[in-house]
Amino acid sequence: MAAPREPEPAEDGAAGPTAGDPVWPELLAAARAALERAYCPYSSFPVGAAARTEDGRLVTGANIENAAYGVTLCAECSLVSELFRTGGGRLVRFACVDRTGAPIMPCGRCRQLLSEHAAPDLVVLTPQGELPMAEVLPQAFGPGNLGS
Ligand code: THU
Repeated sequence: MAAPREPEPAEDGAAGPTAGDPVWPELLAAARAALERAYCPYSSFPVGAAARTEDGRLVTGANIENAAYGVTLCAECSLVSELFRTGGGRLVRFACVDRTGAPIMPCGRCRQLLSEHAAPDLVVLTPQGELPMAEVLPQAFGPGNLGS
C-alpha cells in the first residue's frame, strides 16, 4: 500500500499559483481561524473552510462530528449554513485547510454541495493550486437535471 501523501506546504499566497490574488491569503487566514472551532473528537482531523461571496462577504465553517459518525457535518456544510444565515448568494472563491493550514481537496459530497452554491466563476484553492469548479466536479449533477 502506498504511503500517505505528505501534506503540501501551507500556501500563503506569496508564491506559486496563488501569487497576486489577495483573496487567497485572506481566505487561508479565515479558514485557519475557523478550524480552531472544529468539533472533531472522533477523527481528530479539524477542517476549516472559508469563501468569498459574489457580494464580497466572507463566510467560514468548520467540521462538526457526531457519535453517529455518518451524521458528521463537514466544514463545507457549516460554511453553506453560514452563507444562507448571512444572506445567501453564490460563492466566487473557496478554500479549506487541514490542521497544518495547508489546502485540502473538498470531499466528493462537499464538491456537490459547493457546486449547488457556486457562482459561474467559482475558483477553488486545492493542493494543486487554483482550479475552476468545473474541474473540481466535472459533469456535475445540478438543478438543471431535475427538469420541470
Ligand atoms: N472533512 C471536512 O470537513 N471536509 C472535507 O472536505 C473532507 C473531510 C472532515 C469530515 C470529518 O470530520 C474529518 O474531516 C475526517 O474525515
